Amino acid sequence: MAGRGNAHPLMRNNIVRDDLDHVIEYLSKPDPRLTQGANVKAFEEEWSKWLGVKYSVFVNSGSSANLMSMSIIKNLYGDGDVIVPPITWVSDIVAVLHNQMTPIFVDINPRHLGMDNDSVIDSLTEKTKCVFLTHVQGFNGLTRRLLDELERRGIPLVEDVCESHGATFDGQRLGSYGFISNFSFYYAHHMSTIEGGMVCTNNEDVYQMLRMYRSHGMVREIENETTRDHYASEFPDLNPDFIFAYPGFNFRNNEIGAIIGRNQLKRLDNDILKRSKNHNLFISNLNSKRFRTNFLLDGSSNYAFNVILNEPDIGLRDRLEAAMEQSNIEYRRGSAGGGNQVRQPYLRAIVDAGDWLKYPEAEHIHFFGWYVGNYPDLSEDEIRRLCRVLNEV
Ligand SMILES: Cc1ncc(COP(=O)(O)O)c(C=O)c1O
Repeated sequence: MAGRGNAHPLMRNNIVRDDLDHVIEYLSKPDPRLTQGANVKAFEEEWSKWLGVKYSVFVNSGSSANLMSMSIIKNLYGDGDVIVPPITWVSDIVAVLHNQMTPIFVDINPRHLGMDNDSVIDSLTEKTKCVFLTHVQGFNGLTRRLLDELERRGIPLVEDVCESHGATFDGQRLGSYGFISNFSFYYAHHMSTIEGGMVCTNNEDVYQMLRMYRSHGMVREIENETTRDHYASEFPDLNPDFIFAYPGFNFRNNEIGAIIGRNQLKRLDNDILKRSKNHNLFISNLNSKRFRTNFLLDGSSNYAFNVILNEPDIGLRDRLEAAMEQSNIEYRRGSAGGGNQVRQPYLRAIVDAGDWLKYPEAEHIHFFGWYVGNYPDLSEDEIRRLCRVLNEV
């Protein structure tokens, strides 16, 4: 449920006139290529440079990025457990399930909404094949202790950065720490290519696999000629143009998305600065006796304001939702993913009813947490008005 009006929507102006003008200019050329081409390649290179990784692969959504990363983890590390948070987007868990791996849930840390890193370490076993960590709502979810422990044990980290473009840990951008990292460019995020996502890595073999997984598992996607030739000589009965090395997908994006993405990337850092300024103003105007304001803000990059009650109070919750609707403030209860994933029916085959109570911090967000939009062109007055509505209920 959310407010229906537009006084304070979840997102606004995320694709601007200038982005569209760039598309129109391209479309005005004689015979412009629209399917994946030079702009996609250029966007991937520019993104890699911005993020501080060697390789990026542009795909059609953050969910496709999730599915590809888990497919590659399964391919390289085999069957087993993947550590996941109960507060994340559904496609993170679904990516694990579609690869016949087992999601092991770890509760979140209330100060950054991502998995509590010490609890992640406590939950690692011989069966753990991967830690699939979500940086929730622009907050950094990493600690040095976790990174060191994963490195020591040789367990790969996959970072879901779909909600946290530009956030940093220790001065380095999130998404540059993981073995693989995923971004979304869905409309409601820090930047948008209409629909879209990026998968990033520093590992050249993984990069070539990602290219193949994006395009039906096709060997001709490999950029290295020697490897392509190797496949051709190993499978002489196959047409080299149609060797399918992996059970891949068609997750390609297109030139229009890439043109918008390239144009948006130019203003991303500036937009992040504006959003961070908004976020600070929001936090400092919110009544800390009623709402959580003690988030770990170091390096954060928030496209949303988190409104989380300090105490569970159903009456206050209902009054707050009524006040937001009355004031046309659009909101999502349960943070970006709709709350505790463990409660969702798609998990009922593998999680017993009632198991969701094992994750009390996620439960609190499920019932007493919301997010509302934070975009670069929000005015100070709008932020103060929002805080007034929330504080005065
Ligand atoms: C944490 C997280 N992961 C993955 C996704 C999926 O991204 P997309 O909507 O591009 O499929 C989202 C989407 O909102 C998300 O919030």
